[in-house]
Amino acid sequence: MTEATASGKVYLFGEHAVVYGQEAICAAIELTTTVRTRQSDTISISSGLGNTGIDYCVHPYVSAAIETMMPEGEGCGIEVNIESELPVGSGLGSSAAVTIATLFALNKEFDKGLTKADIAKVGADIEKKIQGSASLTDTYVSTFGGVIAISKKQQLHVPDCAIVIGNTHEFSSTRKLVADVAALKNTHSEIINPIIEDIGDIARKGIGFVQKSDYNAIGQLMNVNHGLLDAIGVGTCKLSELVYAARNAGAYGAKITGAGGGGCMIAICDNPDDVAESITNAGGEATITHIRKTGVE
Ligand code: PMV
Repeated sequence: MTEATASGKVYLFGEHAVVYGQEAICAAIELTTTVRTRQSDTISISSGLGNTGIDYCVHPYVSAAIETMMPEGEGCGIEVNIESELPVGSGLGSSAAVTIATLFALNKEFDKGLTKADIAKVGADIEKKIQGSASLTDTYVSTFGGVIAISKKQQLHVPDCAIVIGNTHEFSSTRKLVADVAALKNTHSEIINPIIEDIGDIARKGIGFVQKSDYNAIGQLMNVNHGLLDAIGVGTCKLSELVYAARNAGAYGAKITGAGGGGCMIAICDNPDDVAESITNAGGEATITHIRKTGVE
């Protein structure tokens, strides 16, 4: 049996602006997906979503990973078992984590000799094939772990403060939100373009504060970043309620993470129990986590 574990991710800064070439900072989190594989006569995939063979409805990413990595030949099969701590479709990178963990396990299982960089690339291609378009960020962060400044794929110092995630459980479509921002940008380019650039400036300035673990400054910039995400239309009432609940409980800063329009927010703090309780009282599902230093392993 081969076992591989890969992490989900959060954006400390820069989502949406990154689509327009601006800087963003992403961090791997200790919420992970573990994939166990064993060679067999047939192909089977089991997870919390069900038990299937190759099935692009129930297990699209794992099906694509198997078809990419499986050697040709009769009687060649694989059992894949998935256990995930990452909620599906809430902007925490669950699809990247399952894709990267599956590729990593199958790379060992079938002795393919791919490097981690190769795996990140194949994973990004699979996400693109399944989702139509996808940024390289989720698969890259899941593969390499730590905190990454996206533009140059620079690994930053890993702050050890707690991260509290608040899930609104509101459905969020990244594709629709990216399109909505593009439409707003087209209609009011003279207003929206500077906001996009400001978000990029926040991420660029944020690099220095992450390197120094300056939580007060990181938190301040997260708060500004949240306001700007609200300004470009990707906030929701529930997300802001959870963001304010976290700040009122003493978090250094709190913001949307990912596409917005629902999904999750994050707060950084050193009193995670208080912040989590406040998020829960405001109607969110709170999860305490930390940044995961290691990549897929
Ligand atoms: O919510 P997620 O994890 O799909 O993140 C979306 C991030 C965007 O910047 C909005 C889009 C992208 O592809 O970078």
